[in-house]
Amino acid sequence: MGLLDRAIVRALPAVPRPVVRRLSERYIAGPTLGDACRVVARLNEGGKAATIDVLGEEITNLEEATALLEEYESVFDAIDSERLDSNVSVKLTGLGLKLDRDACRDNLATLVRWAADERNFVRIDMEDSSTTSDTLAVYRELREQGLDNVGIVLQAYMRRTLDDISALADLRPNVRVCKGIYVEPPDVAYQGGEAVRFNFLEAVTALLDAGSYVAVATHDEWVIKEALELAEERGLGVDRYEFQMLLGVREDLGDELVREGHRLRIYVPYGRQWYEYSLRRLQENPKIAGYIALDTVKRVVP
Ligand code: FDA
Repeated sequence: MGLLDRAIVRALPAVPRPVVRRLSERYIAGPTLGDACRVVARLNEGGKAATIDVLGEEITNLEEATALLEEYESVFDAIDSERLDSNVSVKLTGLGLKLDRDACRDNLATLVRWAADERNFVRIDMEDSSTTSDTLAVYRELREQGLDNVGIVLQAYMRRTLDDISALADLRPNVRVCKGIYVEPPDVAYQGGEAVRFNFLEAVTALLDAGSYVAVATHDEWVIKEALELAEERGLGVDRYEFQMLLGVREDLGDELVREGHRLRIYVPYGRQWYEYSLRRLQENPKIAGYIALDTVKRVVP
């Protein structure tokens, strides 16, 4: 990222919300479940699976967690009635992790049971490092209750990730590996791009060797190429791994993977609480300065 882009990334929280909203439209299906279903149907037609995420990570009471849970029930109903190829992703803070850990676990168990009734699957997103241990503990508790249609996310930038993989090995977890997006201090997370890429591939290697199903979630062409080599070296079929990308990012690269016969799943967020997710996406857009400049010109010159 250039100097100007970096400066703009730092200033983004000061950008008016309507502008953030306009700039981030490509990353979000829309405010309603209907919007998400339309996007997923289009992706499915193009040979891509989806994972639907209901936006809503900043909650202040357990009623909001219940409301989010109920929205996910509607998501499963829609996936079933519209015959969509999609599972769901969920953030545990949205289900109450920071308010009442046991209530959060029970909410998640309800969600995973609904998914099981529909032969579907729940992916627990990973949030900032203050939630990592609790998220993994809740995941283990569910697996120990016999719930298997649930998976986790491990972040390659976290120094603890390889240890977490060893600690979870007895569960043979279904894991999405991503680089990690939250701002973390150097003693918690690798800061350099190369160290994160290296740890990403170490994590994928360890998981594949332990027999896990691995979802490689990245738009980094180099990481994708190396991950494909790891799968090929092991003679793994396409039922042992998938690639995952975010809505609105590197569609060309996704199309290429689908053409080559790999499974690809697109992360499709929707909902009215779009702001935090949008900021994170804009902050990692390498062309953010040009993007903002274009938006400004469009507003000045209609
Ligand atoms: P990198 O950031 O190096 O991007 C590679 C290239 O992709 C860029 O050079 C650019 O071309 C393109 N690109 C990336 N982001 C873009 C953007 N916003 N706009 C335009 N172009 C862009 N994180 C987390 O902490 N917890 C989680 O649970 C998840 N879940 C998750 C699910 C899925 C399906 C994906 C793909 C990602 C996540 N992430 C996540 C986010 C992840 O940690 C990471 O921040 C982003 O994927 C960006 O990292 P890349 O690996 O793509 O590499």
